[in-house]
Amino acid sequence: SAKTTRNARGEVEIAGVGVSEIKERFGTPTFVIDEEDFRSRARLFRDTFERAFEPLAGVDMSYASKAFLSIAIARWVREEGLGLDVCSGGELAIALRAGSDASRLTFHGNNKSDAELTFAVEAGVGRIVTDSLDEIDRLNAIAARLGVSQPVLLRVTSGVEAHTHEFISTAHEDQKFGISIATGDALEAIRRVEAADALRLEGLHSHIGSQIFDTNGFEVAARRVLALAKEGREAIGRPITHIVLGGGFGVMYTTQNTPRTAEQLAEQLAAIVENSCRALELEIPRLGFEPGRAIAGPSTQTLYTVGTLKDVELGGGQQRLYVSIDGGMSDNIRTALYDADYSCLLSNRTSEVEPRVVRVVGKHCESGDIVVKDEYLPADVRRGDLISVPVTGAYCYALASNYNCALKPAVVSVKDGEVSEMIRRETLEDLLARDLG
Ligand code: LLP
Repeated sequence: SAKTTRNARGEVEIAGVGVSEIKERFGTPTFVIDEEDFRSRARLFRDTFERAFEPLAGVDMSYASKAFLSIAIARWVREEGLGLDVCSGGELAIALRAGSDASRLTFHGNNKSDAELTFAVEAGVGRIVTDSLDEIDRLNAIAARLGVSQPVLLRVTSGVEAHTHEFISTAHEDQKFGISIATGDALEAIRRVEAADALRLEGLHSHIGSQIFDTNGFEVAARRVLALAKEGREAIGRPITHIVLGGGFGVMYTTQNTPRTAEQLAEQLAAIVENSCRALELEIPRLGFEPGRAIAGPSTQTLYTVGTLKDVELGGGQQRLYVSIDGGMSDNIRTALYDADYSCLLSNRTSEVEPRVVRVVGKHCESGDIVVKDEYLPADVRRGDLISVPVTGAYCYALASNYNCALKPAVVSVKDGEVSEMIRRETLEDLLARDLG
């Protein structure tokens, strides 16, 4: 995780930069990314998976940019030797602006527009993941018009019930992603891509969900997708050479979560693939994985300033201290949306005062605007203090909104005692600029 220490004044430093300095220079709320932590986690996934899959047919590692993307992030990912997944024209534009090698980009999405598909084919995106039968026909027409032979992966639905929050589970039958294996549609799609003049079937893609801790779901999905690859081979008369099993590796938000290490994941997944292929008598394909959260999440903390404090009577002599911060569900909606758990710490000073249980809430007009449901903070926490919420690098800024016309926070990166601005804070001028009156 982001490298935090306390300096002699008791203030938290992230990669050698004090939180008060960050507040002074950039204000709050601010996302603070430890660059070396992000990079080393990207490297770790790449190295450990490449090592584990080397004896098989190799692996391609990509970063799922939906977790968090900026031009600098796309550059770091490229420099660390990973590919990049995008799922919209916007993400694609940022990746290209960063100088990403288009051939190492993968384009996802269940409802890509013709304009997005054209943008991707023209840019030379390495793989387009087709998500429906009608998209195969639309993409084929676009690639044909542009005179391109477009490599394609087919997003298939394995029917796996991933053990995670319903909203972030993506492989059971009753949801919008992918083409069902069970109904035979996936096999039909393989035939259809094969028959499409301007498309080249490169492989199959499956993603079962996000914030997953055990590998059972991956095992069931891998078996079903590999079995389909075998049927596909028979249907088209040549092997299906690539299987991408998506992302979804869980991270530690609080001590309740116990993620597997990258090494454990890599070894277990390689064993799953090897055993499944052996059982199916199938040649081992090249694998692909695309972690987003596990790379971005732990690298980042959100820094907030404390405002109003309110003691609320719960009955039976119980009280709860509501600590309001200057952001909230507009920069971290995960608590409200997924009942997610976060922790926090008083970061501008230490205190000898006994801790008490507090709830950290935002400034929005909604009682569900909670960032940290329950946490111990020193009882003398007061207006003007700084609070850090760790592990906010994935799906926080990415899901940020202008609810209540809040201004989107700044994003800064820290490294070796230096801080640099990655995305500047939104201003009232930005907010007003697109309102034509
Ligand atoms: N690949 C595909 C095709 C995906 O749809 C996703 C995430 C990933 C990779 C990366 O998954 P990760 O490694 O980050 O778990 N907003 C939700 C998460 C939505 C995930 C969507 N797809 C949240 O905040 O928990």
